[in-house]
Amino acid sequence: MKLISPSLLSADFGNLQRDVEMLNASECDWLHVDVMDGIFVPNISFGQPVIKHIKKHAQKPLDVHLMIMDPGRYVNDFKAAGADILTVHYEACTHLDRTLHAIKDAGMQCGTVLNPGTAVMLLEDTVQLCDVVLLMSVNPGFGGQTFIENTYNKVRQLRDLCNRKNPQCLIEVDGGVTTENAHLLFEAGADVLVAGSSVFKSANPAETIKQLKR
Ligand code: DX5
Ligand code: ZN
Repeated sequence: MKLISPSLLSADFGNLQRDVEMLNASECDWLHVDVMDGIFVPNISFGQPVIKHIKKHAQKPLDVHLMIMDPGRYVNDFKAAGADILTVHYEACTHLDRTLHAIKDAGMQCGTVLNPGTAVMLLEDTVQLCDVVLLMSVNPGFGGQTFIENTYNKVRQLRDLCNRKNPQCLIEVDGGVTTENAHLLFEAGADVLVAGSSVFKSANPAETIKQLKR
């Protein structure tokens, strides 16, 4: 699959409705929504009240990426705010299996996120529960960082693991994705690419989304 999930972290927060409507009209597939708590990552972004407003205007699934400690505490709140896909960090969950089940039980698609420094093999016992696994290709917390090249190896390792344990599972990559590396990531086995600054800082975001998909 070749899906694009533009990250609203790089949108104009003063004009969110306008930017969401631009994405509605574009070829993108999901809207990527980055939630940060200032503890799991050094930055703070926004939470459920803002997501509720995004949801009012969005015509595509909300792909909510929680960069918060103990995300299991907020599963029902993010469901109520409008999340369709909810991904949680392996590194932020003491009880990952329980949290993934809670997400599914709340009626959302669930996913695990790995930081660049976390090995793919640690998913051996939970990948079968995941609708998506998100590999961070930068250290999370900020948009506009440089892509970490080792991500290609991790995508290939994850593709092997999914082939063995959960062929339906989608592989998503987040951080430093550009029109230069997107096709290499799809070739390596990625299904969904998140792109923030490369979309929103470009002269023509809708055209950039089209190029990322090709
Ligand atoms: C980073 C976030 C990303 C970020 C990507 O911690 O998880 O989703 O918005 O931004 P770019 O595409 O600019 O690296
Ligand atoms: Zn993200």
